[in-house]
Amino acid sequence: MAKILDGTVALITGASSGIGEATARALAAQGAAVAVVARRKERLDQLASDIAQQGGRALVLETDVTDQAQAQAAVERTVSELGRLDTVVNNAGVMLLGPAVGAPLEDWERMVSLNVDGLLYITHAVLPHLLKAAQDSPRQVADLINISSVAGRIARSGSNVYNLTKFGVAALSESLRQELAGRHVRVASVEPGAVATELGSHLRPEAQKSLAQRFANLEMLKAEDIADAIQYIVTRPRHVAINEILVRPTQQEG
Ligand SMILES: NC(=O)c1ccc[n+]([C@@H]2O[C@H](COP(=O)([O-])OP(=O)(O)OC[C@H]3O[C@@H](n4cnc5c(N)ncnc54)[C@H](OP(=O)(O)O)[C@@H]3O)[C@@H](O)[C@H]2O)c1
Repeated sequence: MAKILDGTVALITGASSGIGEATARALAAQGAAVAVVARRKERLDQLASDIAQQGGRALVLETDVTDQAQAQAAVERTVSELGRLDTVVNNAGVMLLGPAVGAPLEDWERMVSLNVDGLLYITHAVLPHLLKAAQDSPRQVADLINISSVAGRIARSGSNVYNLTKFGVAALSESLRQELAGRHVRVASVEPGAVATELGSHLRPEAQKSLAQRFANLEMLKAEDIADAIQYIVTRPRHVAINEILVRPTQQEG
C-alpha cells in the first residue's frame, strides 16, 4: 500500500535517543528513507536495523553536528546515498539547567555549541537541497522542523542559557519561514513541554533534583507524542503549513 512519504528522504539529528529516535521511526513508517544523525553509532545501528525489519530504509551517519565539516558531510552523504532531501528535523540538543551564578562556563558553551551552532551548520547545508526538493519532488513541498521548547517561549530562573538558545531557535524559524514561504519550503518550530527522555540525565545532581521536584506529580509526555506532532506537520498537503506546535503534558502549568 502506498504511504504518504514514499519517495521522500528525511534527515533527523539527535536520532540515537528520545524525540529524534521516535521521529525517525515515525517518518520511516510513513515511507520516508531516513538519515539518522548522532554520535552514538551503536544506537543508530540498532535503530536502522529495526527500521529495515519494518521494511524501511535508514542511513546511519555517526556525526558530531557541532563540527561544521562533519555536519556538512552528513548532509552531503544523505543526498549522495539516498538521492535527495525533503525533510530535516533539527532535533539534537542539550539542556544544562542551573543558577547562572557559579555556573560552569563550559555548560553554557556546550548548549550554544549544540543548540545553536550545530543547528545552524545543518541548516546552512540543507537549505539548497530543500529548495530543490520543493521544486522537483512529487509532493512539491519540503519541510524544515526545528525543535525549540516551552523554554523557547517562557524564560525561567535557572534556565538562562537554555532559554537563550531555544528563544533563538524559535526566532530563526520564523525568519526562515518568511524567507522560504513563497518557495514551498515550510519551516516549523516544535515546542515540547516535559518529555521523558535522556535529556535530564546530563544535568548536575542538584539541577536533576530540582527538575524532578518540579515534575514530580506530572505524567510526562512520551517521545512518541512529539514524533506524532512532527509527523502531522510533514504529512500536511502542500498548501498547509503548520508553523508552530506547543505540546505540554496535560498537567504541566508553566
Ligand atoms: N525532553 C524534554 O523534556 C524536552 C523538552 C523541550 C525540548 N526538548 C528538546 O528536544 C530535543 C531532543 O531532546 P530529547 O529530549 O530527545 O533528549 P535526548 O534523548 O538526550 O536526545 C538528545 C539527542 O541529541 C544527540 N546529540 C547530543 N550531542 C550531539 C552532537 N554533538 N552531535 C549530534 N547529536 C548530538 C544525542 O545523541 P548522541 O549523544 O548519540 O550524539 C541524542 O540523540 C532537544 O533539542 C531538546 O532541547 C526536549
